[in-house]
Amino acid sequence: MLTAKGATGRHADLLVRGGTVVTPEKSAQADIACVDGRIVSLDARGWSASEVVKADGLHVLPGVIDTQVHFREPGLEHKENLEAGTRGAVLGGVTAVFEMPNTHPLTLHRADLERKLAAASGRAWCDIAFYIGGSSVNASELGHLETLPGCAGVKVLMGSSFGDLLTDDDTVLRRILAHGRRHVAVHAEDEARLRERRAIVEASGDVRDHPRWRDVESALKATRRIVGMAAEAGRLLHVLHVSTAEEVAFLAAHRSRATVEVLPHHLTLCAPECYERLGTLAQMNPPVRDARHREALWHALREGQVDTLGSDHAPHTQEEKARPYPQPPSGMPGVQTLLPVMLDHVSQGRLSLQRLVELTSAGPARVFGIMGKARIAVGYDADLTLIDLKARREITNRWMASVCGWTPYDGMRVTDWPMATIVRGQVVTRDDAVQGQPVGQPVRFCNKMAITPA
Ligand code: DOR
Repeated sequence: MLTAKGATGRHADLLVRGGTVVTPEKSAQADIACVDGRIVSLDARGWSASEVVKADGLHVLPGVIDTQVHFREPGLEHKENLEAGTRGAVLGGVTAVFEMPNTHPLTLHRADLERKLAAASGRAWCDIAFYIGGSSVNASELGHLETLPGCAGVKVLMGSSFGDLLTDDDTVLRRILAHGRRHVAVHAEDEARLRERRAIVEASGDVRDHPRWRDVESALKATRRIVGMAAEAGRLLHVLHVSTAEEVAFLAAHRSRATVEVLPHHLTLCAPECYERLGTLAQMNPPVRDARHREALWHALREGQVDTLGSDHAPHTQEEKARPYPQPPSGMPGVQTLLPVMLDHVSQGRLSLQRLVELTSAGPARVFGIMGKARIAVGYDADLTLIDLKARREITNRWMASVCGWTPYDGMRVTDWPMATIVRGQVVTRDDAVQGQPVGQPVRFCNKMAITPA
């Protein structure tokens, strides 16, 4: 709806009117005026606007930030690409994503990062930053690489998963930790133990054994090792997709050393049921485990022991997933379903909306040092996610924008829905459709965080 330019008051590009604004602290009715992509007022009295979004009956969240996606470009575009991946993000209410380095080629050097930024320009529907992979070939340059524009930080993969990125050698890990100042994001599974135990699944060919192969000890051992090395190096970690009760307990005792990410998949799916129902579609690393671990993750989430939620959007085609186990690549898509699935948990009373907002905005901003985002406050980017907490919808494969064309939640009914997504003042989705042009820009970071050595 358009309104005429006001003769007396001030003029905004966009007004979001009548919604309930949710911050980690509280929910309150507020109107939001935006100019040049930023929030300029939380009181719309006296403002006219070029565009008005009526948000009556809706909740307005700080734009949701997904701290872990694999968009597969360059090199693996038959699974996903930057346009489709970010389109799925905004359709699911996500306004910024951090993309992983296990593409072809890997993202290891300045030129790889710049190629990704160029590929995203004019094609990304949401804001985006890219991780640099930490490896033996670039370890001593990471202190510089992590400060480049559009870099989300350094990602280290300690146990092989999908693609060629792997750093399991302690000497290399120590070199990586010695170069740089930002949190190092780490996939902690112990490569030697995974290799030793691979025979379990080669013999059984049963996907229900996936969590037995990549067991609790594989995850805990790697997490302990890297936390120990980070303490020696005086470095901070962000431990990705924490999946076990044992790691939760260990990391709770090391809060000053490591922040924690958990995934909606690990909070929602449960072994063995998910493997019986979904087969290898549910195969991911670290694996979906049994109810004891899922409960521990929920407990940690409610207790404030978790800092961010990542979807670990890891698409593979249905043909690839249909191979006999253990051949299929591990991973499930998730960027488009992160918010609907988590809001459904909110509607079922498993966590508060405030806590969810903390995990999808303030948490990522704190861990990654994001500049100018993740708050509904004057001066911040107008990244807003409008949700209807009463809408009843069904998640379907048909709704998926991902090139892979499927979701593990096909057929799941949820109570909630993302109704509109606003990226820096541009309304990019409304009523389940994208509108306008892809407006995504590189996310900006504060790269001068002072970190106290151990
Ligand atoms: O299941 C997974 N898939 N875990 C990872 O760490 C990588 C991801 C992928 O890229 O497919």
